[in-house]
Amino acid sequence: MNDRKGTGQPADTRKVTTAGLRRMKERGEPIAALTAYDHTMAVLLDEAGLDVLLVGDSVAMVVQGRQTTVSVTMEQMLYHAGLVAAGAERALVVGDLPFMSYQVNADEALKNAGRMVKEAGVEAVKVEGGEHVCATVKRIVDVGIPVMGHLGLTPQSIHKFGTYQVRATEPQEAEQVRRDARALQDAGVFALVLEKIPASLAAEVAASLSIPVIGIGAGSSCDGQILVTHDMLGLYTRFRPRFVRRYAQIGEEMVGAFRHYVADVKGRRFPSAAESY
Ligand code: KIV
Repeated sequence: MNDRKGTGQPADTRKVTTAGLRRMKERGEPIAALTAYDHTMAVLLDEAGLDVLLVGDSVAMVVQGRQTTVSVTMEQMLYHAGLVAAGAERALVVGDLPFMSYQVNADEALKNAGRMVKEAGVEAVKVEGGEHVCATVKRIVDVGIPVMGHLGLTPQSIHKFGTYQVRATEPQEAEQVRRDARALQDAGVFALVLEKIPASLAAEVAASLSIPVIGIGAGSSCDGQILVTHDMLGLYTRFRPRFVRRYAQIGEEMVGAFRHYVADVKGRRFPSAAESY
């Protein structure tokens, strides 16, 4: 059996499916998910054994340099999702439906979910929100497109919240999260992202649902974890929530490499004879 590069673990090359994720929950195997926005990164993430690659609308912040996720368009998401889908062989690729691509009505939502699958080649889509998006979720699921839900801190509603602070700390909002989670499961979502809510609430929701619950800033009792790849690599440093663990300082390494290159060019040390024709 192949060795998964650098880990000493055997590589599991079987394609990840939505049913496979549910089986992982059933046998207590944590789901590892990260975001991806381009082909090169998708190939590397896939090789590393990620189970799910989310083409997140966080692309607006970490790639496009915007302050929030709300500006990213359907065309831009299709472009990034297509790059990722072409690079991932094993991981399940989920495309975020951007703000206002599914909120106007279920027909438009269905059309945009279909474009994600047909044009970009993703295997599932993600929407934010609870009870109010359930009719739309059902409509999309009914035609055979798997949908992932997203509750807690839902960045597309940042202008309603006003801050990126932890959500559902008050009993009323916690109860709404419980209700929304059940409603989404009943509407047919195959998995649920819980973002930045108390760990105890996330644990309770994960235990109460049969679908996998993937946490980001939601404690260790979820069925899986997701982070924004640019955050965990130290590539995006504008702000750092406490749930982000930095696994590398790639940004610093890149600046070091760029400085080295500048110095070599200025000092006429690049290119060498061996690098010339
Ligand atoms: O867009 C995104 O990256 C996300 C994750 C934070 C879950 O929705």
